[in-house]
Amino acid sequence: MVYADYTKKETRFIEGIMKRHGPKLDGPMRVFEPACGSGRLLESLAARGHVVHGFDLNKHQVAFAKHRLKAKGLRGRVWRDRLQDFTVPKGARYDVAHCFVSTFKYVDTEAGAVRSLRRMAAALRPGGLLLLGLHLTDYQNSPPDHERWVGRKPGIRVVSDTWSAPADRESRTEAMRTRMRITEQGRTRVEETVWDFRTYSPSELRALLAKVPALRLVACHDFHYDLASTRKVDLAYSDVLLVLRRRGARQG
Ligand SMILES: C[S@@+](CC[C@H](N)C(=O)[O-])C[C@H]1O[C@@H](n2cnc3c(N)ncnc32)[C@H](O)[C@@H]1O
Repeated sequence: MVYADYTKKETRFIEGIMKRHGPKLDGPMRVFEPACGSGRLLESLAARGHVVHGFDLNKHQVAFAKHRLKAKGLRGRVWRDRLQDFTVPKGARYDVAHCFVSTFKYVDTEAGAVRSLRRMAAALRPGGLLLLGLHLTDYQNSPPDHERWVGRKPGIRVVSDTWSAPADRESRTEAMRTRMRITEQGRTRVEETVWDFRTYSPSELRALLAKVPALRLVACHDFHYDLASTRKVDLAYSDVLLVLRRRGARQG
């Protein structure tokens, strides 16, 4: 349920950005989602006729994503894997890969991040797009933060609180904590998760991209998923959505 409010916007954005910057398609779009979570985007893209593949580290998320596709009569391939060293099914080449909402920041080392991006690039056809959405860090101004999100479906209410601690420039980490209060049939349970995100200032992000020359930055948008609004990769706006094209086709 978390992020579900954005799903439609993100789905339309993927389709729109592919028309603008992606390779010419001669069949359904082949979409790849590393760290697909519960599969909300797999479902919405499959429902629009695209071919969807994705993986996640969490086996419960993998099971949930498979189930939700099946329950809707949709096809897709979902498996368990890690961002740092995943493999794709033999022969698979994707038109577009996407990794939104700072998920890439779970990769906790530079070497892991480079490997992950190289693998994403290799999984794309020449000219294919990688859409990478992440929150940038301003080390000079990184106060503790809190976000609340409330979602409802018949019979279930979820209140999700996420806290982030100030970023640490030395270790390139920000400590994160999420608490979900899930109320179902009058009973409430609380699930709490803590983890460290790897941080990226604009220059750290550029330095990472320079290590993956197979990908070229062709545009930058933001978490509003508005095709009409582009950004620079700087601290003027910190929630950036990079459009990276695999080299090898379509210049411009
Ligand atoms: C914020 S959720 C995003 C899920 C999905 N991409 C979406 O937009 O709804 C992050 C997901 O990343 C997964 N994850 C975290 N670290 C991972 C890793 N190293 N490799 C693969 N998946 C990972 C988590 O299990 C979780 O499902």
